Amino acid sequence: MADRTARLSVDGIKGTIELPIHLGTVGPDVVDVAPLTAKGIFTYDPGFVATASCQSAITYIDGDEGVLLYRGYPIEQLAEQSDHLEVCYLLLNGELPNAKQKQEFVRTITRHTMVHEQLRTFFNGFRRGAHPMAIMCGVVGALSAFYHDSLDIDDEAHRKITAHRLIAKIPTIAAMSYKYSIGQPFLYPRNDFDYATNFLYMMFGSPCETFEPNPVISRAMDRIFLLHADHEQNASTSTVRLAGSTGANPFACIAAGIAALWGPAHGGANEAVLKMLREIGSPKNVPKFVKRAKDKNDSYRLMGFGHRVYKNYDPRAKIMQETCREVLTELGIDRDPLLQIATQLEKIALEDEYFIEKRLYPNVDFYSGIILKAIGIPTEMFTVIFATGRTPGWIAHWKEMVSAPYKIGRPRQLYLGPKKRDFVPIEQRTS
Ligand code: SDX
Repeated sequence: MADRTARLSVDGIKGTIELPIHLGTVGPDVVDVAPLTAKGIFTYDPGFVATASCQSAITYIDGDEGVLLYRGYPIEQLAEQSDHLEVCYLLLNGELPNAKQKQEFVRTITRHTMVHEQLRTFFNGFRRGAHPMAIMCGVVGALSAFYHDSLDIDDEAHRKITAHRLIAKIPTIAAMSYKYSIGQPFLYPRNDFDYATNFLYMMFGSPCETFEPNPVISRAMDRIFLLHADHEQNASTSTVRLAGSTGANPFACIAAGIAALWGPAHGGANEAVLKMLREIGSPKNVPKFVKRAKDKNDSYRLMGFGHRVYKNYDPRAKIMQETCREVLTELGIDRDPLLQIATQLEKIALEDEYFIEKRLYPNVDFYSGIILKAIGIPTEMFTVIFATGRTPGWIAHWKEMVSAPYKIGRPRQLYLGPKKRDFVPIEQRTS
C-alpha cells in the first residue's frame, strides 16, 4: 500500500503517470517506478546511486549523520558492549539472543568450525603464491559440493544449517588460505577458544608450541569482524542478492560476494590503503599525494577515503581508530611510522577544501589495515579478513530475500549500439 504518490508527466504521453511512494521506518522515501514499464519507459541510474533495489530490515545507514544501525542497534553500542557472534545472531534473527539462545548459538557455531577433510586437498590445486582471495573464492564456492544434504533454499532448516556452516567455517578457510600460502600445516579449530581467538590461533599457531592468546588482540580482531559484519546494499551484498535471485545455492552466492568484495574500490581498499601509505613513505610526502588525489587529470585516489553513502565520518572508522591505538599501545608500537603517515594524511585531507567540498572522510578501511598489519596479518590477507567479517551480513541478506517471494534480478539498459542492419558476407567487407 503506497503512502504518497508521485506524478510524472512525459512529453508525448497523455496525462500523468502515477508512481506510488513508499515510506521506510526511517530514511528516504522510495518512488515505485514499476508503472513506467507499462508506458515503455525505464529509469536510468548507472551505479545505482539513487536506486533502492529491495526492501530490507537488516541494516540502516544515514550517510549525512554518520549513523549505522544493525537491526536498529547503533554500531557504537554493539562494538562496545556486544561481540561478533552475538551480532551474527542479531543479523540473522532480527533480535539480540537471550543468555540461553546465545549459549546455544555459540555452541552450534563452535561445532561447525571444521571443514570436510576432503576439502583440505582442494588447496593443493593452487600455487603457493596464489592470492588468498582467489583461494577463498574457489574454496567457498566448492563447499556446495560437500553439503548436498542442505541445498534446498526453500527449506528453512537447510537455510539455517547453511548459515551456521558458513559463519563457522569461513574463519577456518581464511586461516587455511594463509597457512597454505606460507607452507605451514593447517591447524584444526579449537573449541575451547572464542571465535576471534580461534581464528588468530589457526592463523598464527603452530603444532610445535602452545598458543598464548592476547585478550587485547582477540578483542580487536572480534571488533574488526563485528564492524564489517554488514552494510546494507553495498556492491558485494547486492551481488549476493542478485546471485541468490536466480535460485543459486548459498555457497555459490557467498563466493560471488567474495569475488565482488575483492575490488580496490570496495573491500580491497584496506589492502590498497597499506600500499598507499608505504608508497607515501613519510609524513612530509603527504601533501604531494593529496595534490595528486585532487588533480582531475590524475585518476589517483586516496584509498580509505570517500564513500558512496557516508558524506560524513564513517562511524566504523572512528571505532577502528580507537581500536588501532589500543592495539599499537598493547604491542608497544604506538610510534608506528605508517600510523604517523595515516594521522598526517587524515589531518591534511580533513582540512583541505577539495575533501571538505566533496565530503570525503576516512572510511572503515582507513585504519583497519594498520591494525591488521600490527597484529601481523599480511597485506594480501586484509580483504580475506573483511570477507570473514562480512559473511554473516551476506547470509542475512540472502536469507531475508529467499525467505519471502522474490523475482530474479534482471536490470534493463539504455541501448546506444547500432540499429538493425543486414549481415555482410566477408568478400564484400572493405574496412
Ligand atoms: C567500502 O558501499 C559500501 O557500503 C562499501 C563499504 C562496506 O562496508 O561494504 O563501506 C566498504 O567499500 C568502503 C570504500 C572503500 N573504498 C575506498 O576507500 C577507495 C577510495 N574511495 C573511492 O574510490 C570512492 O570514494 C568510492 C568508490 C568509495 C565511492 O565512490 P562514489 O560514491 O562513486 O563517488 P565518486 O567516485 O563519484 O566520487 C565523487 C567525487 C569524484 O570527484 P568528481 O568526479 O565529482 O569531480 O569525489 C572524488 C571523485 O573523483 N573522490 C575522491 C575519492 N573518492 C571520491 N577523490 C580523491 N580520493 C578519493 N578517495
